[in-house]
This record gives sequence, structure tokens and C-alpha cells, in this order.
Amino acid sequence: MATLHLNNIVKDFGGTQVIKGVDLEVKDREFVVFVGPSGCGKSTLMRMIAGLESTTSGEIAIDGERVNEVGPADRGLAMVFQSYALYPHMSVEDNMGFSLRLAKVPKAERREKVLAAARILQLEPLLDRKPKALSGGQRQRVAIGRAIVRNPSIFLFDEPLSNLDAALRVQMRIELAQLHEELDATMIYVTHDQIEAMTMADKIVVLQDGVVEQIGSPMELYHHPRNRFVAGFIGSPKMNFLEVEVRGADAEGVEVALPGGDCRVPVAGDGVSAGDVVTLGIRPEHLALDEQGPLTGQIQVIERLGGVTSLYLEHGDSEWILVADGDVAHRVRDHVRFTFDPARAHLFTADGLALAHLERHPLVDIDRKENRASSASGGQR
Ligand SMILES: Nc1ncnc2c1ncn2[C@@H]1O[C@H](COP(=O)(O)OP(=O)(O)OP(=O)(O)O)[C@@H](O)[C@H]1O
Ligand SMILES: [Mg+2]
Repeated sequence: MATLHLNNIVKDFGGTQVIKGVDLEVKDREFVVFVGPSGCGKSTLMRMIAGLESTTSGEIAIDGERVNEVGPADRGLAMVFQSYALYPHMSVEDNMGFSLRLAKVPKAERREKVLAAARILQLEPLLDRKPKALSGGQRQRVAIGRAIVRNPSIFLFDEPLSNLDAALRVQMRIELAQLHEELDATMIYVTHDQIEAMTMADKIVVLQDGVVEQIGSPMELYHHPRNRFVAGFIGSPKMNFLEVEVRGADAEGVEVALPGGDCRVPVAGDGVSAGDVVTLGIRPEHLALDEQGPLTGQIQVIERLGGVTSLYLEHGDSEWILVADGDVAHRVRDHVRFTFDPARAHLFTADGLALAHLERHPLVDIDRKENRASSASGGQR
């Protein structure tokens, strides 16, 4: 059992508030991912949870018990950093067992725990090696192994994969997701990587400037971002935005003016009225080339990725990214017309808040575990 509650957490660094009242509930065995721009406070929040940084005000509770005054070693947590320093003169086994040795755990028990962790991480054949004789991914696994042997109730990972090359990141991402299932542990994970956040998280916490902008499942943040910041932050390439004038609005929809004619977006239009300027948001993958489409643009750049092609379009002051089929035959400087399904569009008021979609997307409430084949073995635990 390991739950975590943050209650109105504040962090002040010499008069500058960098965490501005964060509330968060992490359930037992949940995989929670923190994302947000550089400097928004992700590492500070992790370090406060770990007890490496004091808390200016608010309460941190683990399993319902306040831990603000409890030292890092006694919180039952283990943290894996981006820059994991392994001891170069020690073998993999000694590196992994080091914290147990410090805690005066008897040798036989130490070895048993290290072997169990090595089995999970597939490090058994490497236990006698020194770190310099390991690949980057293997070293990363040793760093994770060091955390596992401590049998923490909560794992904290601060960008653990950012030093690895792309292929290794994919491999480690899958291994970490499997590890989460095997250990049945609560995990909190910081990343800049959209794919890691979307694929690993039960719940994503989007932070900006020390404030939580939204907490939700990956699909919820993708389909129902609550404001323009979250809409622009989640998803790659980024959502397109266009300022448009409202023609009319009621509880069932908002009619907005587009260059090629008006368009009715099925969102609750309470609070907006004709003449207001709102922001229309459409994801690049939800735009489609269409010779009769209401929008036009000239192709500036073409990025062919094989399976899909990104077109960077310009029309007057507005810029668009459109993700098209891989085999699209257009060339740079071509003029194209394009369209979108209004049900997939988003509208944001002048203060950046999203108008609510009339229907919740059907995938939003599906548990992440239902998407994974390995959940079939979940009953063996
Ligand atoms: N010890 C400190 N003293 C003063 N300011 C600090 C200290 N540590 C962090 N900060 C400031 O707090 C803010 C949040 O930093 P933090 O490291 O938590 O950001 P982050 O979200 O982890 O960023 P990144 O994605 O770049 O790792 C930054 O503006 C940073 O400069
Ligand atoms: Mg950081």
C-alpha cells in the first residue's frame, strides 16, 4: 500500500515562490507522470516529495500520515535521477547493494535482494562487471536496481531516460512499464518526452510556473484539455490555433467565422456571444486535405516521415501544421485547401479556458491497463 497526498504545497526559494499551492492525490500502484516546460517546478516537487527539499507550507502525506518532518531515508521512497552516478570501482552487484550495506543488512540477505532485482532487470549475467563495461541502458538498469533493492513504497523517477539514445529509450520505456506491473509499486515520473508521458501514465499532471494546469488520463488531456496551455503542450506536433470571430452561440454549439464560410463547433457556448473573438484549436492529425475545404494555405515545408507527412502551411498571418498521408504528392509552394471535422475542434475563450465538448470522447475513461497485452497476466500476482 502506498498512497501520496499533496495538500496545497508551496515552495519558496529566498522569496521567490516556485511551487504555488499544488494539490495532488496519487493512488496506490498508480503511475503518475509530471510534465511541463523547463523550470516549471517538476524536479522541485519531486525533491519535496522525497524529503530532499523542505516544504514552505502545505502538507505531504504518505499512506495518510504527514511526512513533512520525516527525513528522506525514512519516507520509504527511492529516487532515480537523470544523472545516476554509479561507483566506478564497484561491481554491478556492489553498486546495487550499496544502500543495504550502509543499512548493515547481513551479506546473505543483501545478495538475495540484489539477485531478485537483477532477475527482474535482466542484469544477472552482468553482476560482476564494473560500470565502465556496461552500455548506457545497462547502467540505467543498475541505477533502477539500486532503487528496487530498497523495496520502496513509492518510486520517484526524474527524467531517468534522457541520457539514452532513441532506440534505448524505447526499450527502457517498455521495460519500465513492465517493471511497474511486476513490482506493483506506486511510481511518479518526470519527463519531457510526449510519448513516454502518453504511454506510461495512468495520470498526467501538467505543470506551468509552479501551478497545476490539469490532471487527467492521457486520453483525457488529449481530447479534453481544459485550457489552451494544456492543449498546446500535450500532442506532437502541436495543436494549431486560429483566432476567429463568433457568429452565434448557444448551449449546443458555437458558430465561428472561417475564411471559407461559417462552421458550427459542438461545444457548450454559454458565456460567449456573437462578436466575441475566440481561439479555434485543431490538432495537425485532425486536419485533412480537401479540394472543397474551407481553409487554404501555401506549403512552406514538407517533412516526409514515411508513414505520414507533415505539411507546414501559411496563409496570411496564420500558420498551420497538417499531418497527411505518407504518400501525399504535393510539393513546396503548392497552394492547398483543407478541412476538419468540427467535432474534433476545440474553442478557447479570451482567457484561455476551453469550452466543454458536448460529448465526452469514448476512449477517455478506458483504463490504461486495458490497452496492454500484459494485463492478461495481472491475475498471477
Ligand atoms: N535551490 C534553488 N534556489 C533557488 N531557485 C531554485 C532552486 N532550485 C530550483 N530553483 C528554481 O525553481 C524553479 C523550478 O526548478 P525545477 O528544477 O523544479 O524545474 P524543472 O521543472 O525540473 O525544470 P527542468 O525541466 O529544466 O528540469 C526554477 O525557476 C529554478 O531556477
Ligand atoms: Mg528538472
